Amino acid sequence: MRSRRAGQADLRRAHKNLSGLEDGGRFVRGDICDAKAVEEAMNGCDTVFNFAAESHVDRSLMGDPAHAGAFVQTDVYGVYVLLEEAKRQNVKKFVQVSTDEVYGDVSEGHSVETDPLEPRSPYSASKAGGELIARSYFVSHDMPVVITRGSNTFGPYQYPEKLLPLFVSNALDDQPLPMYGDGLQRRDWLHAEDHCRGILLAAEAGTPGEAYNIGGGNEKTNRDITQMILQLLDKPQSLIQTVADRPGHDRRYALNCDKIRALGWQPSRDFGADVAATVEWYRANEAWWRPLKNDAEYQQYYKRNYENRAQEQQPASR
Ligand code: TYD
Repeated sequence: MRSRRAGQADLRRAHKNLSGLEDGGRFVRGDICDAKAVEEAMNGCDTVFNFAAESHVDRSLMGDPAHAGAFVQTDVYGVYVLLEEAKRQNVKKFVQVSTDEVYGDVSEGHSVETDPLEPRSPYSASKAGGELIARSYFVSHDMPVVITRGSNTFGPYQYPEKLLPLFVSNALDDQPLPMYGDGLQRRDWLHAEDHCRGILLAAEAGTPGEAYNIGGGNEKTNRDITQMILQLLDKPQSLIQTVADRPGHDRRYALNCDKIRALGWQPSRDFGADVAATVEWYRANEAWWRPLKNDAEYQQYYKRNYENRAQEQQPASR
């Protein structure tokens, strides 16, 4: 199932990939808030993985129904629709894919699964809401719900609103890289494949009612990542444009992953090689991202998010 912004190209690719599944995978396009579509898609399933979400913090900060409203709708109500159908179908496992952002800003140390949820953006609040409704179905209806909280995920086919695909595609076009504030915010980067292995393991071996952190162990500042991108593309520092900070910007997320490690998961990737491969992927697959960036809705979003931010024009120094 999709979140609202999955583009036509993503849907075609998902369809193609799933059509090729040897075990006869079936692709159904639908909205998780649409109970009828959910009923059709879930028919006969024994495990549900909910990846569908509105996921971009900056969009959630735009307080209109099309933006912040869509987060509450998809990330909370959509989860409820899935849970109701999963309950009706008696599924064996329901995995709610959540985020490290539900812990809020972590100035030091690492979040453990029993820490309080202190989300600070409408995005992370809506994801926390989704988790809580999912957990309530475990408590109230004895549903086998498992929650995963992943860190900042990257890899090919990431929509070009997130830091890495946005900065890579802008740099390829010699366009400014809009760095929020001092760029010293820290994120823990996780390759999509490691993330998916963790989610699969949580589904197979996780205890119902429990949450599992999944982090890559690659804590970097936004400046570190930006420098890597510029070096890989052989582009100048002068592309970095310091812009006004994101309101309520969490400085740092960091996860303790002992619990998923105890099930047998560990990160298996080489971060430097993965960033290089991802940058290379965007260089080679302009035909995928260019139409997304040329889309009228994207352009409108970009203008709205960045136009008034760009007052501080001086290049960032390390
Ligand atoms: P993002 O990819 O949006 O993920 P998240 O907000 O979920 O961590 O952003 C990663 C970091 O990069 C975050 O600290 C915000 C910062 N950032 C910028 O500095 N400029 C940008 O244009 C974007 C999209 C993000």
